[in-house]
Amino acid sequence: MRVIVAEDTQAAAAVAADIIEKIVRAEPDCTLGLATGSSPVAMYRELIRRCKDEGLDFSGIHTVNLDEYVGLDGSHEQSYRYFMNTNLLDHINIDKSNTFVVKATGDIEENLKEFNDILDNTDIRIQLLGVGPDGHLGFNEPGAVLYDKAHQETLDDSTIEANKRFFESKEEVPTKALTMGMGNIMRAKELLMIIGGNKETAARKLLTEEMIDPLCPATFLRLHRNATVIIEKELADRIGYKY
Ligand code: GLP
Repeated sequence: MRVIVAEDTQAAAAVAADIIEKIVRAEPDCTLGLATGSSPVAMYRELIRRCKDEGLDFSGIHTVNLDEYVGLDGSHEQSYRYFMNTNLLDHINIDKSNTFVVKATGDIEENLKEFNDILDNTDIRIQLLGVGPDGHLGFNEPGAVLYDKAHQETLDDSTIEANKRFFESKEEVPTKALTMGMGNIMRAKELLMIIGGNKETAARKLLTEEMIDPLCPATFLRLHRNATVIIEKELADRIGYKY
């Protein structure tokens, strides 16, 4: 696992954008695994800038997202489809029909089947990851056992608590989500995590301990052959990470 300590959010975004840019230029028809949350937002902004100002070309790129809230239609402002459109996809020259965020309304079993069919037939060149305060990846919540494939999760209270900032009230936060499984994430050719803010517990477990802990799914990054963690200096210092 490669760890890069970045001066601040902007520096972390630039390093992450460099990694994505290199891949997009070398493999212009590959599939990028995308993530939501505040962690990748600055990087998406940088990719938009590079597309507009520097001709970074997404016209042949495909994307697949980690997860979606159950019950939120893609037009809902807090859905992850809406997030992806407004934070990246609407602003780059990608063919929207080549982008996939699992539908999480209507027939959930059917939607999961479609998601798993796509994942089974897609080589994700690089999977972007944030991390939940409880160490979740996508919406793979901590537990004695973790899932291989795409499935439905019941969200932990700490996840609902952390994500309520995007909703009018805690009661409006969906309690379930569809997510790629840990196996889907681990099968990506490369993993790229951006971590900053208040993620002490997950960052400490991932970077300063040597355990692979299903109660902190982020620690599974240690098992991947090609994983990069970009951590903001302020958080690295706070957890006593030596660099
Ligand atoms: C949600 C998403 C995760 C994301 C996490 C952290 O729970 N399902 O994929 O990593 O939020 O978000 P943030 O980057 O806003 O801290």
